[in-house]
Amino acid sequence: MKDHLENVHLSFIGCGVMAESMIAGLLRQKLIAADRISGSHPRESRRRELEERYGIRTFESNAEAAKSVRDKPSSCVVVTVKPQRMSRVLGDLNGSVANDGLVMSIVAGTLIERIAKELGTEHVVRAMPNTPSQIGAGITAWTCSEAVTDAERARVRQLLTALGKELYVETENMIDMATSLSATGPTYIFMVMEALTDAGVHLGFSRDIAKELVQETMLGSVKFAMESHKHPAELRNMVTSPGGTSAEAIYQMEKGTLRTVLSKAVYAAYKRAVELGRKD
Ligand SMILES: NC(=O)c1ccc[n+]([C@@H]2O[C@H](COP(=O)([O-])OP(=O)(O)OC[C@H]3O[C@@H](n4cnc5c(N)ncnc54)[C@H](OP(=O)(O)O)[C@@H]3O)[C@@H](O)[C@H]2O)c1
Repeated sequence: MKDHLENVHLSFIGCGVMAESMIAGLLRQKLIAADRISGSHPRESRRRELEERYGIRTFESNAEAAKSVRDKPSSCVVVTVKPQRMSRVLGDLNGSVANDGLVMSIVAGTLIERIAKELGTEHVVRAMPNTPSQIGAGITAWTCSEAVTDAERARVRQLLTALGKELYVETENMIDMATSLSATGPTYIFMVMEALTDAGVHLGFSRDIAKELVQETMLGSVKFAMESHKHPAELRNMVTSPGGTSAEAIYQMEKGTLRTVLSKAVYAAYKRAVELGRKD
């Protein structure tokens, strides 16, 4: 892969779980050297932890962290705080980003237009990762303003590979859609995983055995679906014999409106994501 991160300097604003996943992934994959990464965090103990663990430079002030990369040739400020902190952080960063500076936000809700207006740059990216990013197995949907150049887009793509796969989407609404489907996605999967494990325990398996049977079944089913390129309904039909166990189980899942419940959950999460963007 061509190195689009050569000479890039990054500053993470609010170094929590997602920022750390990105920093760890970038360093693990040797995409960038630690001396080209900085970040901010309000707590001294957290700053010390990040410095000791990764050798990066840290700041208490969000503005100082952003300024530390402002005059570098190809820098990127990555905003990684919780949505409820966004107003305050945008205020902190006002005047600290160069006019044509690249800013990437992974914060749910806050719109590109608002970030551009408050930070005074047209070069804004919105990305939506998910928790498997913590082990480099995430999927991140991202989009950007028109002003973001081809070189910056290539830089963003490579940056996001630190978290796993990346997928460019055409519109900002699709970021809200991805927030409900892939970013909230692990919640649906974990709940199904938990429910099936409990069902195994109900049958009489020990929790360890039930957990292993369920996890391997989920993992294998996903791999099988991906490798076979078959529609899930076709794969399901292959194991549904007339009058058999799958047919019985399908009848109960349909009766319990499993599909409708999942669809309603995704739609509710989408509406919440849109709402977060309209707040304050
Ligand atoms: N986690 C996910 O799976 C996921 C997926 C997609 C998108 N996101 C988005 O990613 C963002 C970060 O999520 P996260 O899970 O990494 O959250 P997180 O671990 O809470 O990280 C945010 C960090 O910012 C710190 N902070 C609080 N106030 C601050 C301030 N005024 N200035 C600078 N830093 C401040 C927090 O410190 P304290 O802990 O001391 O408050 C925390 O360490 C969120 O906006 C979320 O929407 C997360």
